Amino acid sequence: MLWDWPAEEAYPYNLPALRGLSRITFHRPVTFLVGENGTGKSTLLEAIAIAAGFNPEGGSRSNMFQHAKTESTLHEHLRLSWLPKATSGFFFRAESFFNFASHVDEAERIRATGYAAYGGTSLHEQSHGESFLALFLHRLGNRNNSLYLLDEPEAALSPSRQLALLRILHDHEQAGGAQFLIATHSPILLGYPGAAILSFDRTPLAPVEYEDTESYRLTRQFLMQREGILRALFSQEE
Ligand SMILES: Nc1ncnc2c1ncn2[C@@H]1O[C@H](COP(=O)(O)OP(=O)(O)OP(=O)(O)O)[C@@H](O)[C@H]1O
Ligand SMILES: [Mg+2]
Repeated sequence: MLWDWPAEEAYPYNLPALRGLSRITFHRPVTFLVGENGTGKSTLLEAIAIAAGFNPEGGSRSNMFQHAKTESTLHEHLRLSWLPKATSGFFFRAESFFNFASHVDEAERIRATGYAAYGGTSLHEQSHGESFLALFLHRLGNRNNSLYLLDEPEAALSPSRQLALLRILHDHEQAGGAQFLIATHSPILLGYPGAAILSFDRTPLAPVEYEDTESYRLTRQFLMQREGILRALFSQEE
């Protein structure tokens, strides 16, 4: 991925993780984007999604429903280069999943397929986590040359369903031909073997080891020393 960098100092060009970047190369089938809240993970995923022709609110090239225009202009400065070129894919964003599910219901009313692409049930008629997993199971088809952009897919998933998502990633990697870029805070998802992890806490963003991510370190520390951490946390002055 290459970009020509505008001189503007406003959002999103002022985000430290993106400052001074001219190229990011995604070598691995699975790349995670990690970092503190507000460091720019969703901004970058969304820009890549738009540059790849997906709906900025989520979906594939065939899911072009109306959305409130909130996306940044970053996509105008990106140039994506693929070998081979991604011909299909999907952009999943936890934050606008409700709108996406409504869009699927609307499309189903026009062209009744029995929710064929979603396991046979409206996404609104499944629990939050069930609907997420139904989407991952049925829309992340094993097609060649696919680009999948997932923004916090763990948001509604129980730990065991996060493991189920790891299995889906593994099956894709075995089949070959798909690339995943995943923004996540989940220490379970980040444990996927062989993935690249890019930290948005660096300026500009840079690779980081699993064991050096905050998601891993803080979760591990909490589980090992819960009482001590809570005592220190609750005794801090306001
Ligand atoms: N449309 C916008 N206009 C101005 N600033 C924005 C806009 N969207 C996001 N921002 C700001 O840009 C920063 C990065 O936001 P972004 O949503 O990319 O963060 P993130 O890394 O995905 O965070 P999180 O982990 O909370 O999802 C935030 O500080 C946010 O306030
Ligand atoms: Mg985000």
